[in-house]
Amino acid sequence: MLEEEYEKKRRLPFHLRRRPEPEGPFTYVIRPAEERDIPDIREIYNYYVRNSVVTFDEKVWSIAQWREKFAFLRKLDLPFLVAQSPTGQILGYALVQPWAGKSAYRYTVENSIYLGQAAAGKGLGRALLEALIDACRQKGIREIVAVISDKGAEASVALHERLGFTEVGRMGRVGFKFGRWLGTIYLQKSLKPAGKGWFRRGPGLREPPSGE
Ligand SMILES: CC(C)(COP(=O)(O)OP(=O)(O)OC[C@H]1O[C@@H](n2cnc3c(N)ncnc32)[C@H](O)[C@@H]1OP(=O)(O)O)[C@@H](O)C(=O)NCCC(=O)NCCS
Repeated sequence: MLEEEYEKKRRLPFHLRRRPEPEGPFTYVIRPAEERDIPDIREIYNYYVRNSVVTFDEKVWSIAQWREKFAFLRKLDLPFLVAQSPTGQILGYALVQPWAGKSAYRYTVENSIYLGQAAAGKGLGRALLEALIDACRQKGIREIVAVISDKGAEASVALHERLGFTEVGRMGRVGFKFGRWLGTIYLQKSLKPAGKGWFRRGPGLREPPSGE
């Protein structure tokens, strides 16, 4: 044994020892996305493009692509929200986009929600999706559809089901990423609108009668 190994290890008395920093409460604000948020949003999304099968995108998105999407959603006045930490960091985002291009689909949207890795599993997904659903209701949207990968997206399925989405179908082997086949799960939620429809601004579009 070495000489120093015989020496008793010195330890500071308890009251002088450094205590671990208490983890602060997980706080954030949820607000509409702004153009300045795009670099953070892009980084959050691209992490999942590179490392997971929760998105079927295989190529990372550029700032220009995100700008285009942001402008498109803003033009349609569709909800696009971010959660921001007290230090200004974007922790996650949620958005809706038209479900399909044909005009009869105009009351139906597809949603998308992604959190930075460190922000997942702490209740933020629930808060952000609740806010998104509420914003959709205010805009007169009637149906939200979530298209979720059938592999690796258990948290997303659980979150959507907790908030009243119900499974309406599945497709098998429609995607191929990282050398394996992937399917999709479709979940849908119907809304009773609280406000005026965003569709009214479109030429010749009217609100459907309630209950329709
Ligand atoms: C999916 C995602 C948005 C969920 O957000 P989150 O903050 O992690 O989820 P929450 O902590 O708010 O949990 C929501 C609910 O789902 C449940 N849940 C979360 N993860 C779960 C898991 N892996 N398995 C089962 N249930 C789970 C929680 O218990 C919670 O239920 P409760 O409110 O009744 O307690 C987030 O994890 C994420 O961004 N994941 C990576 C990207 C992704 O998959 N996006 C969706 C693409 S379709």
